[in-house]
Amino acid sequence: MTTKIIAHRGASKLAPENTMFAFELAYKLGAEGLETDVQLTKDHIPVLIHDETLTRTTNGRGYVKDYTYKELLRLDAGSWFSREFKQAKLLSLEQFLVWIKPKDLSLNLELKNNKIDYHQLESIVYNMLKEHKLIKRTTLSTFNPNSVKRLSELDNDIEIAFLTSKKNINLIEYASSLGANAIHIKYRLLNRQLQEQALANNMPIRVYTINKYKQMMNCYEHQVAGIFTDVPHKALTFRNVYQFKREL
Ligand code: G3P
Ligand code: MG
Repeated sequence: MTTKIIAHRGASKLAPENTMFAFELAYKLGAEGLETDVQLTKDHIPVLIHDETLTRTTNGRGYVKDYTYKELLRLDAGSWFSREFKQAKLLSLEQFLVWIKPKDLSLNLELKNNKIDYHQLESIVYNMLKEHKLIKRTTLSTFNPNSVKRLSELDNDIEIAFLTSKKNINLIEYASSLGANAIHIKYRLLNRQLQEQALANNMPIRVYTINKYKQMMNCYEHQVAGIFTDVPHKALTFRNVYQFKREL
């Protein structure tokens, strides 16, 4: 299986994460999928930002959940990264879906509901995907086991990934019992046995966050379904190197 290169928060090493600059760049650099993080505003609009709070990646303060989307639009979401990106704005999920639809990219929407369990985040996001006819191209993922259960009750067809950084010898069994049909794991959890169990259960494994050559090569060797990387251009080059070496 060829490992898919998924840009983690866009090409987030080169442009401010989860902004249009990072997504556009990832697309131009040849990423095959995009991963992004979804939080909910005070007026229940899903927005793309990794943290529950605004401080790290914008010039705002406080929690995303305490602002309306219109209020959040005033923020600068790029200067923290570099002055070149001072025009960057927080994106709504809706804008992102409209942008991605005509492009040949898969989507991974990570619901950021493990710290704040936003009411109805699952159905809000799901209905939006349905409206844009993007269900087949999307994986919904979350660290929150209850949210995985709720997602699996919404739809049997959409891919739902349980996200984890914790060691668990029965991970595949546990994720299936929640209703997940994929797993997204931290790199240190990857091993041959897990990969074999996942294959036997027809459950794709994707691994985060892979930015180093050695880790990339190891993921390609394990033939994982995908890697999340901040440097999609490097991951593509190294995948070519890996394939070239295999053919020697
Ligand atoms: O979805 C994979 C990865 O993004 C999970 O961790 O903290 O980077 O959102 P984090
Ligand atoms: Mg994420």
